[in-house]
Amino acid sequence: MAQEIRAAIIGCGNIYGMHRDVLRQLPGVRVAAVADNKPERAKKAAQELECDAYSDYWELLAREDIQTVHICTPHYLHAQMAIDALRAGKYVITEKPMALCVSDARRIIAADPGGRLCVVFQNRYNDASVALKKMVEEQTYGPLKALRGMVTWKRTAEYYADDWHGTLEKEGGGVMTNQAIHTLDLVQWLGGGACSVSGSVTLDRIPGIEVEDSAHAFIRMKNGVTAVFYATNAYETDAPVEVEAVFEQATVLLRAADLYLWQGAELKHLVSGNAQPGQHKDYWGVGHLRQLADFYRCVAEGRPFAIDGEQGIEAVKLVRGLYASSALGKEVEL
Ligand SMILES: NC(=O)c1ccc[n+]([C@@H]2O[C@H](COP(=O)([O-])OP(=O)(O)OC[C@H]3O[C@@H](n4cnc5c(N)ncnc54)[C@H](O)[C@@H]3O)[C@@H](O)[C@H]2O)c1
Repeated sequence: MAQEIRAAIIGCGNIYGMHRDVLRQLPGVRVAAVADNKPERAKKAAQELECDAYSDYWELLAREDIQTVHICTPHYLHAQMAIDALRAGKYVITEKPMALCVSDARRIIAADPGGRLCVVFQNRYNDASVALKKMVEEQTYGPLKALRGMVTWKRTAEYYADDWHGTLEKEGGGVMTNQAIHTLDLVQWLGGGACSVSGSVTLDRIPGIEVEDSAHAFIRMKNGVTAVFYATNAYETDAPVEVEAVFEQATVLLRAADLYLWQGAELKHLVSGNAQPGQHKDYWGVGHLRQLADFYRCVAEGRPFAIDGEQGIEAVKLVRGLYASSALGKEVEL
């Protein structure tokens, strides 16, 4: 029988619950330790998972029995924690964004010559995303011409009232760095990789935060495909995310986890969402389960991760490029 893989989680806040629930379901994987600098959170998580609790993550990095580390902490900690875990010989799966700036993302990649880093962009694993990517690759409706991404969600002043959201130092950016980065990643992945961006970011609604709550962008892909993108946290509800793909012979709409074909003014349903009752917030999708399962299959079989450092850095480049474009008032090459 294959040996059990021992996992550890750093950061026991909000998204920890998703990693916990998935890890409980994965055969051949056991959580051996958790760490949170708020000791009561680490203790509670350790009770839930029947494992050891630490307040200093170095203690779990020092354990030789632990092979994988999940980084579920605020953004500004990702780069250093990933580098520390890689240097300790662990496989690392980090929540998005992999780093706050391109140079930190490159530092992680430099610390990962063996390809042991995986970045969470779980929406790539939704059925509708997979089907749309296949349409692009197989040119089902001819070549892809253009994409449109829309993320219109609600985040309140209370959401930003903790010790890291809304700050440039710790969150590093607003709607683009935190919420819309998933959809931005989908757009650049479907489009074949971005080479320039122009646009601007604004603070339209939410008082007292240092980061943008709204943004728009025009993106050029390396292959000539273009994309328009709009994101805001200033809406009144979390509307379903949309990515529309204009092909030479048809237009296809990804809406939340479903895929549709435009037929005149009508939408024909192509792919059903993979949301399951009881899952966490449906707009996050159920991709976490699929991506983490894939991560552990790759670890067990010694295969490379689909979303490695080189894939993870693309969205960071786009977000930082957009901020630069907004500040400079011109198109920025990536
Ligand atoms: N993939 C997704 O859909 C998704 C959804 C939500 C959040 N996230 C990401 O997950 C990450 C965490 O977000 P969250 O909402 O869970 O935040 P959170 O604030 O709820 O949780 C973060 C936890 O990290 C702990 N922490 C802070 N500093 C630490 C340190 N030095 N050592 C150990 N623990 C430390 C905090 O005490 C807290 O418990 C972020 O990167 C966020 O963008 C991803």
